Amino acid sequence: MRLDLAGKAVLVTGAASGIGLACVEAFLAEGARVGGLDRATIPVVGDDFLAVHADVTDERSVAAAVGAVAGRFGGLDVVVGCAGISGPVGTPVAETPAADFAAVMTVNVTGQFLVVKHAAPWLTEARGAVVLLASDSAFTSAPGMVPYCASKGAVVAMTRALAVDLPQVRVNCVCPSVVDTPMARDDLGAVLDDPAFPVQATEDVASHVLYLASARSRTVNGQAVLADFGVSARSGFPA
Ligand SMILES: NC(=O)c1ccc[n+]([C@@H]2O[C@H](COP(=O)([O-])OP(=O)(O)OC[C@H]3O[C@@H](n4cnc5c(N)ncnc54)[C@H](O)[C@@H]3O)[C@@H](O)[C@H]2O)c1
Repeated sequence: MRLDLAGKAVLVTGAASGIGLACVEAFLAEGARVGGLDRATIPVVGDDFLAVHADVTDERSVAAAVGAVAGRFGGLDVVVGCAGISGPVGTPVAETPAADFAAVMTVNVTGQFLVVKHAAPWLTEARGAVVLLASDSAFTSAPGMVPYCASKGAVVAMTRALAVDLPQVRVNCVCPSVVDTPMARDDLGAVLDDPAFPVQATEDVASHVLYLASARSRTVNGQAVLADFGVSARSGFPA
């Protein structure tokens, strides 16, 4: 399938690690020009790449970073929101400080909102596309995941609202199950190496992101693409 992403101006947040880094590399491999935003150092160099240091929770730094990428590339065709944190995974709700809940919501929800807010004028001009990282945690949970699940449910709802609010821009989100990244390794450790436990690669997620960023998915808008090996499709029926 031809994605026709060559020359497109793309902004990827959370570009220093995991899924964001894989998306940066996949867009560059397609010939796109990529701006990577992160609060950490991004291990990518090249003529078609611009690294911008910013925290997605800080509106002024987001506005400056988005402006720098759009200025360098003469606009923005695609925004991919990967920056996120898992927060206090494994902590029962009765022991979860409100500040920890708020911190997860601020990065995972407000951060996505701020990036799209400041990219919206360029995306509208380009009739572009947004792809946000939500999670299968928007639809299913394990014990001790209340803040993260709440934040990812909000990203799914915000995806629909943005698709309506920005009529010239397609907005979708991807909802992967566990992906082998530093975040997942920190939270789950060696479980990721158990062959009985389905784990996806960052490249699997990047494939969905690039498809949703490309004109090949032009009829898909306001949707959450759940990629979980079919786990959530199984009912509790004992058969
Ligand atoms: N790994 C998984 O199993 C999984 C599954 C579903 C969804 N996701 C989602 O995918 C996205 C990427 O996760 P990952 O697993 O690649 O994590 P990761 O920790 O490997 O990468 C996240 C990146 O976001 C950056 N970041 C975090 N907070 C930031 C902030 N305030 N400002 C700027 N940058 C910030 C980090 O520096 C890091 O580079 C997240 O939104 C995560 O919730 C991950």
